[in-house]
Amino acid sequence: MLFDFDGLPREKRAKLLLSTVVPRPIAWVVTRDEAGRVNAAPFSFFNVMGSNPPTLALGIARRPAGLKDTAANIKATGEFVVNLVPHRLAEAMNLTSFDAESGVDEIAAAGLTAQPSHRVAPPRIGESPVAMECKVMTLIEQESGHTIVLGEVLAMHLAEEAVMDVERCYIDTPALDLIGRMHGGGWYSRTTERFDMPRPAGINRYG
Ligand SMILES: Cc1cc2nc3c(=O)[nH]c(=O)nc-3n(C[C@H](O)[C@H](O)[C@H](O)COP(=O)(O)O)c2cc1C
Repeated sequence: MLFDFDGLPREKRAKLLLSTVVPRPIAWVVTRDEAGRVNAAPFSFFNVMGSNPPTLALGIARRPAGLKDTAANIKATGEFVVNLVPHRLAEAMNLTSFDAESGVDEIAAAGLTAQPSHRVAPPRIGESPVAMECKVMTLIEQESGHTIVLGEVLAMHLAEEAVMDVERCYIDTPALDLIGRMHGGGWYSRTTERFDMPRPAGINRYG
């Protein structure tokens, strides 16, 4: 069945995209406003786009009343921290998605700990096993008010137990137990079911 997106209402386009492009990793984004107040919220319009420079992308929708705090803070300060979400923190992540008043610290509200960052002002979430300190490369402001953020990763924090070999940067990915966003109201996936398939011979790691 073909769905031509021309003339399709926004909600239907969203349904088609969000129920097929799955699982989406979740960026648990921490920002600060210009007064230094901390904000956290999850975003599944998220992925890594390249490694040279290390680039990631976020998609932040606009509320009828204006920009979400995350978009407003990123625009104002140019800095943010992307934390990843393990299964054990799924409920805490979900708690931080409520539409809190600007200036409410969702990290504290969810019982989590803010840890200082190394290169940027917004803190990271101490309980998360992976945190990436980022600065804005490009902001794309779409007509609908949607903000696409391209960010450069300046530094990464990893839980000690997930680092198998520091020199070679071997990471115990399964141990991170990260979750992904699926379809509909509240479906998520775990990364516990996997299979291994080596690339065909003769293809190098960039091919
Ligand atoms: C798992 C999950 C993924 C989400 N992904 C997005 C997203 O990609 N873009 C978006 O605009 N909102 C997304 N949201 C909703 C925001 O988290 C929510 O609007 C939040 O209140 C924004 O907070 P802020 O105003 O503090 O930035 C998501 C929520 C959840 C629970």
